[in-house]
Amino acid sequence: MTEVTNRPRRTALVTGASAGIGEAFATHLARQGFNLVLTARRLDVLQRIAEKLQADHQIDCRVIPADLTDPESARRIFYELARDEIEIDVLINNAGFGLPKTLLTHDWREIAAFMEIMAVSWLHLSKLALPGMLERGYGRIANIASLAAFAPESPGSLYSGVKAQMLTTSRGLRQECLGTGVHITAVCPGYTHTEFHSRIGIPDLAKKMPRWMWQETDAVVSEAWRACERNRPVVVTGAVNKMFRLLLALTPDGLAEKSMPKSIADVRKRGRA
Ligand SMILES: NC(=O)c1ccc[n+]([C@@H]2O[C@H](COP(=O)([O-])OP(=O)(O)OC[C@H]3O[C@@H](n4cnc5c(N)ncnc54)[C@H](OP(=O)(O)O)[C@@H]3O)[C@@H](O)[C@H]2O)c1
Repeated sequence: MTEVTNRPRRTALVTGASAGIGEAFATHLARQGFNLVLTARRLDVLQRIAEKLQADHQIDCRVIPADLTDPESARRIFYELARDEIEIDVLINNAGFGLPKTLLTHDWREIAAFMEIMAVSWLHLSKLALPGMLERGYGRIANIASLAAFAPESPGSLYSGVKAQMLTTSRGLRQECLGTGVHITAVCPGYTHTEFHSRIGIPDLAKKMPRWMWQETDAVVSEAWRACERNRPVVVTGAVNKMFRLLLALTPDGLAEKSMPKSIADVRKRGRA
């Protein structure tokens, strides 16, 4: 049910809101009475989600289509927001994807686009949102990293690296904002049922792996939001992922580097079969 208060409603900007964890985050925040700005590339999907959330929760929900591999997108989103006098109180940096191939086998333009969305765009959006949050003494930023941030990289992949960068930078940014009313949390989910794996060509992954290794988006999002409200620097979602995180911390680097990439490659092969 939508929370009713006397203060003006706060507004949340959710990136990658057209599917998966982003859509679930938008729904979670709508239930709590936040107005929303939803962004992703698929305008028709965003509009359908926005209409439903507006009708179900009596909130304002605006849609700004944007491709975050374009370095101008963050600036354009905030230009539109400023023009319409919308202030962002909550930022969910969620949009992202995996690359199916490696540094050596991808075209450079594909690598550059990946680095833009995964390593640059969320920083740019945060830089644009933070001054207003600090001025108003209230802000929440959830950065959707991954359990992969703690794991060694599989051969030629760039995914663990960008998620580790997000994790570490998010922690530093949180330190800079301590005591200001702005909370910043890096969220580390493990395998989650979304469109993510079919987009990298392993649609059957969930069917080929034990069910206990997977989380639903709602569980990820409610734990993530709770952690952000408490200003936790990092949250690894779900008991199984917390166990894997501990295991990774206890495994010597050399051993993890030998065994992890092989098991990830096996898992991917099974997902493709
Ligand atoms: N699923 C998992 O197992 C898992 C685990 C750990 C972390 N994560 C992380 O969780 C985040 C969300 O992923 P998900 O699992 O929810 O995947 P998903 O279902 O594929 O959703 C990805 C979202 O990102 C948007 N997006 C993709 N490319 C974009 C671009 N160039 N510009 C703007 N938006 C773009 C997509 O919308 P459009 O296609 O409409 O643009 C979609 O809304 C990602 O950062 C991912 O790395 C996922």
